[in-house]
Amino acid sequence: MELRSPKLYTHKKSKTPIFYPYYAGYSTEFVEDILKVLNPQKNGRIIDPWNGTGTTTYVANQQGFEAIGFDLNPVMIVISKARHTTSDFQTSLRPLAIEILNSAKDQIPIIINDPLLDWFIEPFVKEIRAIQQSMERFLYPSDFQKHNFMAWNELSNVAALYTTILFRTIKNAYNIKGSNPTWIKTPDELVHPTSSARDIFMNAVEEQESYFKHGSLFANETVSLSLANSKCLPVENESISCVITSPPYLTRIDYLKATWLELLLLGYDESVLQTLRKDMLGTPIVRDFKPNEITTGISDTCDKILDFVLRHNSHASSTYYYKTYAKYFNDLYFSIMEIHRIMQKNGNGAIVVQSSYYKEQEAC
Ligand SMILES: C[S@@+](CC[C@H](N)C(=O)[O-])C[C@H]1O[C@@H](n2cnc3c(N)ncnc32)[C@H](O)[C@@H]1O
Repeated sequence: MELRSPKLYTHKKSKTPIFYPYYAGYSTEFVEDILKVLNPQKNGRIIDPWNGTGTTTYVANQQGFEAIGFDLNPVMIVISKARHTTSDFQTSLRPLAIEILNSAKDQIPIIINDPLLDWFIEPFVKEIRAIQQSMERFLYPSDFQKHNFMAWNELSNVAALYTTILFRTIKNAYNIKGSNPTWIKTPDELVHPTSSARDIFMNAVEEQESYFKHGSLFANETVSLSLANSKCLPVENESISCVITSPPYLTRIDYLKATWLELLLLGYDESVLQTLRKDMLGTPIVRDFKPNEITTGISDTCDKILDFVLRHNSHASSTYYYKTYAKYFNDLYFSIMEIHRIMQKNGNGAIVVQSSYYKEQEAC
C-alpha cells in the first residue's frame, strides 16, 4: 500500500472530527494507513512516546493492539484518556453534567492566590472553580493528589472526559486569538466572558456530544497512557513492536505554553510549570542549559548545523540560538536512543519529521 500525500492527512480532510483543538495533532487516517504499511504482529505493542492528544494510541487500540502512550504534559494525558471513554457513555454525558452543575450551586470555593485571577474576572473564576470542585467530588478519587504529576496516570476515562470539557470551557471563555496558535499570553485586561461559566460549560458538553455522534469513542483494557519524559521511558528493553509518533520539531514551539490555561485550571502555579517547561523537547527555555552538557558528535549533520549557528553573525546566534539548537539535538538524541532500547529487534515504526531552517540553512 502507498501512503497518501501529507496534505490528505490533515484534520481538515479527516472523517473523524477533532477530539480537542490542538495545533500539533495528525489525523486518524494517517495512523490507519501507517498501520497497514507497517503491519505489526497482532499481539504487538504499539507506542507513541510523544502522544499528544493520543491519535496513535486511539487508533492502535481501536484496531486491537496494545497501545502505550507517554507525554510530559499532564493536560495531554487527561485529553488522551478522555478519548477512550466508550460510546455507551453518550446517554449519561448530559445528565451527569447537569448533576455536576446542580451540586456546584452549593460550593463556595476559596480562590485566594488563584492564578486564574490574573486572567479572568473574579466571579467567573469562582464559578468555574465551583464547577470543577463539584466535578471532582463526583469523579475523582477522594485521595487524589494533583500535585503529584503521576496521579494523572490513574484518572478514570470518564473523569478525564469531564476535565477535558472544563478545558474546553476555559478555552472558549478566554476566546482571544493571538497570531501564534501555540502561544497564549496573560491578557492586558481581565477577561470578562460574555456568558456564565455554567452556560459555557454546557456548550462544551454539546461540543463533546457531537464527537460521540461522529467519531465513535472506543476503548478496551489494553491502553496505557501516562506521564513520562521521552528521554526515560518506563518500558522494558526490547518489548515494543511498533512506534508511530511525531516529536516536537526544531521550531521553538512551546507545547506547555500552548496549554497554559488548562494547566492553571488543573491547579499548577507558574513556578511549577516553568520547571516542567524546561524539560519539554524543543523548549525555548534554555537559560540553565550548560554548554559543556552539549552533545557534539551526534552526527556530522548536527555538528554542521551547530557550527553554522555558532558562527552566524546575527543577534544572539552564538548564545541563545546555539543553546536552543544544541539542547534540542541533545534531548532528541537521548529520546531516540531510548526508543531504540525498547524496540524489539524485528520492530518497525514511523516518525513524522519536518524540515526547519536557521536563516538559509536547512536545520533538520
Ligand atoms: C507533535 S506533538 C504530538 C501530537 C500527536 N501526534 C497528536 O496526534 O496529538 C508532540 C508532543 O510531545 C510532547 N512532549 C514534548 N516534550 C516531551 C518530552 N520530553 N517527553 C514526552 N513528551 C514530550 C508535547 O507535550 C506534545 O504533546
